Amino acid sequence: MYGKEEQRQLYARSKEYLAGEMTLPPAEQLPELRSLLRYHEWRYYVTDDPVLSDFEYDQLYKQLETLEEAHPELITADSPTQRVGSDLTGDFVSVPHLVPMLSLGNSYDAADLAEFDRQVKRMLNMEEAAEISYAVEPKFDGGTIALVYENDRLVRAATRGNGVLGEEITHNARVIKSIPLTAAFSRFGLYRVELRGEVVIRKDRFERMNEARAASELPLFANPRNTATGGLRMKSPTEVADRNLEAFIYSFGFGTNEAGNDAVQALGTHSHALDILTELGFKVPVTGYERTQAPDIAAAAAFCKRWEGQREDYPYEIDGMVVKVDDLALQERAGYTSHHPRWAIAYKFAARQATTTLLDVEYQVGKIGTITPVAKTEPVGLAGVMISSVSLHNEDFIREKDLRLGDKVLLERAGDVIPYIVKPLAELRDGSERPIEWPVNCPVNQTEVEVPLMRAPGEAAWRCPVCVCGAQNLQRIIFHVSKVAMDIDGMGRRYVEQFYELGWLHTIVDVYRLPYDEIARLEGFGQRSSDNLRRSVETAKGNPLWRLLHGLSIHHLGKKASQLLAQHVEHALDLSTWSEEQFLHIKDIGPTVATNVREYFANPIHVEQIRELEALGVNVRPTDEDRPAAEVTEGPFVGKTMLFTGSLQQLSRKEAQERAKAAGARIVSAVSGKLDLLVVGEKPGSKLKKAQSLGTVRVLTEEEFLELL
Ligand code: IVH
Repeated sequence: MYGKEEQRQLYARSKEYLAGEMTLPPAEQLPELRSLLRYHEWRYYVTDDPVLSDFEYDQLYKQLETLEEAHPELITADSPTQRVGSDLTGDFVSVPHLVPMLSLGNSYDAADLAEFDRQVKRMLNMEEAAEISYAVEPKFDGGTIALVYENDRLVRAATRGNGVLGEEITHNARVIKSIPLTAAFSRFGLYRVELRGEVVIRKDRFERMNEARAASELPLFANPRNTATGGLRMKSPTEVADRNLEAFIYSFGFGTNEAGNDAVQALGTHSHALDILTELGFKVPVTGYERTQAPDIAAAAAFCKRWEGQREDYPYEIDGMVVKVDDLALQERAGYTSHHPRWAIAYKFAARQATTTLLDVEYQVGKIGTITPVAKTEPVGLAGVMISSVSLHNEDFIREKDLRLGDKVLLERAGDVIPYIVKPLAELRDGSERPIEWPVNCPVNQTEVEVPLMRAPGEAAWRCPVCVCGAQNLQRIIFHVSKVAMDIDGMGRRYVEQFYELGWLHTIVDVYRLPYDEIARLEGFGQRSSDNLRRSVETAKGNPLWRLLHGLSIHHLGKKASQLLAQHVEHALDLSTWSEEQFLHIKDIGPTVATNVREYFANPIHVEQIRELEALGVNVRPTDEDRPAAEVTEGPFVGKTMLFTGSLQQLSRKEAQERAKAAGARIVSAVSGKLDLLVVGEKPGSKLKKAQSLGTVRVLTEEEFLELL
């Protein structure tokens, strides 16, 4: 890639820059600095053989940054500085961790921990009778993250990767709200720090996401851990935001003062370091609840044991606890192996497994006809829940695992809230097991008619293509009234099934013409609940159009696409006149949705249903909620970017931002060459200094800002 002579020159030029011997005008320095940095990145990441020290590289990088800050008009998108913190999405860049991210050794009981304690003491030349105090905290089961802050600002986030190189995911970390974009490390003499933590999703949020996905017949996430690790690596930050991820911080990777010297040791203990991080606004295990300072290893073991017993009640998935020597100076003395620190150990909880017998396979049909096989098993307790029914996902799952009726199977809920079948215990077979015959015809259909199942090329799911028995309609009605679609309060699956059985519901249209008098006479109902139900249905009739579109159960038409379509029509039936191109004209509507929606509205039965819904008073036109907030085209700040700093006296930060937006401003989060206006409250920080040094930012006081408004 680079010739020998070329490399020699690049190196020599780099040294000249580093020596501060450069006198060229900025317009010539900038492109050269960029190419020098690109060369060093290549040496570092590609050949793994850098010719500059990290420090020198950083210095060179800073020269580029400073020059670009002074001449923002000369910044190019491919500049090495435009990677970090940019909102550009694309493939991830590998970045080196400044301190490698190691693993942890494992322990499984109090005896293992006692042995660990003895080893620590041996390393530290301490007597066995001496006592070491330990910090104990949950071992979160999610995706590891390393956050670098410089000058109190988040400048980089990376995944663990292979421990040496991680993937740069700054733009994704920035949408995780528990990760502060700024934090006052400088108060503690820390200029540059790396924090380590684990990105997780709450178990209940995970379940709700999966319920919504099931309702839309999207493939389910296997477990909270995958949802979190996958979430960190999404291409689009908005999708990351949708996952509701959170980041627990569990330690400093390093922390240095302005002179580049360690400033973490001075914090004394790990527990104190976590207290400080709590104070700085990070999400840290709460002391006295999730974490403790144990005076000795026996107390640490007892805390671990207690948590093993209550892990099911904890809102996050944890696969154990971590026991760490609390004193940071002792940690340093104990040191590291190439694999793990000698001062910390994981206490792993027992796996949550059980064995049972696979008795039968039943089938369920979804709202668009997907057939899901469900294993019926001998009831068995697993992590506090009785299990007798486990999803088998699809035919391929059954084939790949070679599951047979009568098999003893291994169930697990490791990182998983939903139990799954790990494997059949083939060695326990006695020959009486029978193969699972995948049905040829719709197994749910109870009529005389045979409906052959179909499978689209490349898809795992078999579908019932034409529902003759109404089972799919039932699922569609259940989805239609659910929270994610029309959100009809009080009308869940149970009522829909009951009314369906009674013959009152055939299609979604019937939801809006229920016989309330008869409902009032049903057992367990009464006038009050019937009235309440009527009120909920009446309210839902006024829903925004996107809810109705989403509630039609069109394959692949999710919430976002429904919202987009609702913004582009005057009436739901406009969609029946649209060409494929019209759909594809809308950004973010792809060919699959286009085809499916077109086909749906090409069916006269569906068009008639919309007319009936309209006649029953259901809203079929876009409402205010459907229309995006109009762009402000008038006001003192139209076309300007604005940033607030310091504490405002007359308005809250939020109010000020809202009013600025209403007057046309676009609020940004950092000072850069692109910033037009900085509104300064009391005690402004480094932002003001930086803005002044740029010389291009207009600085306003709060009064001036209000006057302009
Ligand atoms: S401390 C030097 N503390 O467990 C290594 N790790 O094998 C120190 N983890 O993937 C790690 N919770 O992300 C530590 N409270 C905790 C943790 C924790 C989860 C993860 C970590 C890594 C693995 C370590």
